[in-house]
Amino acid sequence: MQGKIIDGKAIADDILKKLKKELKEYKTNNNPIPKLVVIQVGEDPASTIYVNKKHKACEEIGIDSEIKRFPETISYSDFLKEIGKLNKDDSVNGILVQMPLPEHLNHKQVFETIAVEKDVDGFHPFNHGKNLLGKKGIAPATPKGIMTLLESTGVTLEGKNAVVVGRSNIVGKPIALMLINEGCTVSVCNSKTKNLKMFTKEADILVVAVGKCNIITEDMVKKGAIIIDVGMNRNKEGKLCGDVDFENVKKVASWITPVPKGVGPMTIASLMENTIEACKQQGKCTCSK
Ligand code: GUN
Repeated sequence: MQGKIIDGKAIADDILKKLKKELKEYKTNNNPIPKLVVIQVGEDPASTIYVNKKHKACEEIGIDSEIKRFPETISYSDFLKEIGKLNKDDSVNGILVQMPLPEHLNHKQVFETIAVEKDVDGFHPFNHGKNLLGKKGIAPATPKGIMTLLESTGVTLEGKNAVVVGRSNIVGKPIALMLINEGCTVSVCNSKTKNLKMFTKEADILVVAVGKCNIITEDMVKKGAIIIDVGMNRNKEGKLCGDVDFENVKKVASWITPVPKGVGPMTIASLMENTIEACKQQGKCTCSK
C-alpha cells in the first residue's frame, strides 16, 4: 500500500483564490475592507515566520493587515490596555495574538480579553464553547483546516475511530471536539500516554500534534489509516520534520499529510476565512462583552 498525499498547500491555495474573488466582489459592493491585527510579543524566530506568513496572505487576498510587535518586557497591564484599544477600534475586525506568549502575560486571560467578535483565532472561551456544543462560530484555525483536509479525502467520518495525540487548547482539544461532533469515537492521548501504540494502532484517523520529531512510526499505525501531522519540528541536523515518520508511515496509510505543505498552509487559509467571516458578522453579535 502507498498512501495518497493530502496536498494541504494546493487545498489552501484554492481557498485563498476563492476568498480573493469573494473579497473583490464584497468591496465593489461598498462593504468595508476587513482588517486583521496580528500581535507578536518578543522575537521568537518561529513566531516571526508565522506572523509574516499571515501578513503576506492578507496582502495577497486583499485583507488589510497590521503587525504589532511588543518587547518581551511589556507589562501585563500595558499589554491588556493595547488589546483594549484594538477591541474599541472600529476599523479592526480581527485580533490575533501569536503564541507562545511570555509566561507573565497569562495567555488564558489574554484570550478572554480579546473582544469575542474579533477573536479570529477562535480561542475565546465563548468560541471554544460553541465548538464544544457543535454550534457554528469562529473555530480555531488549525483544527478547522484539519477538518477541511479530512473532508477532501471524501472519507465518511461518522463511526470511525479517531485518535488525537496532543491535548493543547490550540489543536488537540478543539480537533477532538470537532471529530466527536462528526460522530467519531475519539481518544485523546499525549506525549506521556502509557503504551501510546495501543491507542494509535486502533486509529482510522490519527491526528498528531505533540511537537516531537517522528514519534509516530510505521509499526504504530493501522493499515489504511488517515494520518494528519500537525508537527513542525527541527531534528538534530536542523532539518524540518513532522511528528510522523512520513516516509515509512506513508507505506501503511491510505492518506497522509506531508510536512511542510500539509496542515501549515491550512492554518493560514482558515485564519483568512475567519477574518472575513468576523468582518461580515460584526455588529450582529448578541453576546455581551
Ligand atoms: N501558535 C501556534 N499556532 C498558533 C495559532 O493557531 N494561533 C496563534 N495565535 N498562535 C499560534
